[in-house]
Amino acid sequence: MNIQNSQIPLPDVEWGMAEFETRALRTLLGCYPTGVAIVATRTADGRNVGLTINSFASLSLEPPLILWSLVNHSPNLSVFRNCGYFTISILGCDHQELALRFANPRVENKFQGIPVQETPEGMPSIDGAIATLVCANHQQTHLGDHLLMIGQIKRIASIEGKPLVFHAGMFTALHDIREI
Ligand SMILES: Cc1cc2nc3c(=O)[nH]c(=O)nc-3n(C[C@H](O)[C@H](O)[C@H](O)COP(=O)(O)O)c2cc1C
Repeated sequence: MNIQNSQIPLPDVEWGMAEFETRALRTLLGCYPTGVAIVATRTADGRNVGLTINSFASLSLEPPLILWSLVNHSPNLSVFRNCGYFTISILGCDHQELALRFANPRVENKFQGIPVQETPEGMPSIDGAIATLVCANHQQTHLGDHLLMIGQIKRIASIEGKPLVFHAGMFTALHDIREI
């Protein structure tokens, strides 16, 4: 494409909403599909703690950093803020039940009956996850209504499988649009 000659189309309507409700923003952000993961750690007294997240993202390769965010009213805010390590288990497309279980605040012990692996650091990770990252708790910052957690990746493991996808408030899966 010749950039000099290309014409940038101008919107013929007023450009976007400058005033919006949280609900409208949430709906719009839901247009961006994400994977689904379970972040987990172990408390000093040996209790496994975990929740479903879709805020996971890669941040840096050198050093290897990732991020995720935890809502400020989480009952596990201080557990994650003060933990030494946490794991990120990236869920496969057949892990919808797991994702729902770990997103349900009414489930008292989310790990009961769930096959778990233990990392050499003594952290729980979800058995069967398509990818697992073991992270040292590198940095945390309160921003808006979330605690931004930054982890330094210490170990990685993966198995074959297609990811679970979250889009427009629903779980879905990828489908191939062409052979590569
Ligand atoms: C697909 C999906 C993604 C989510 N992502 C996040 C997230 O990134 N951060 C967060 O704090 N809560 C997130 N939640 C909500 C938590 O999973 C939910 O509040 C859960 O009950 C927290 O567990 P707890 O009550 O034991 O702390 C997500 C829920 C779903 C279904």
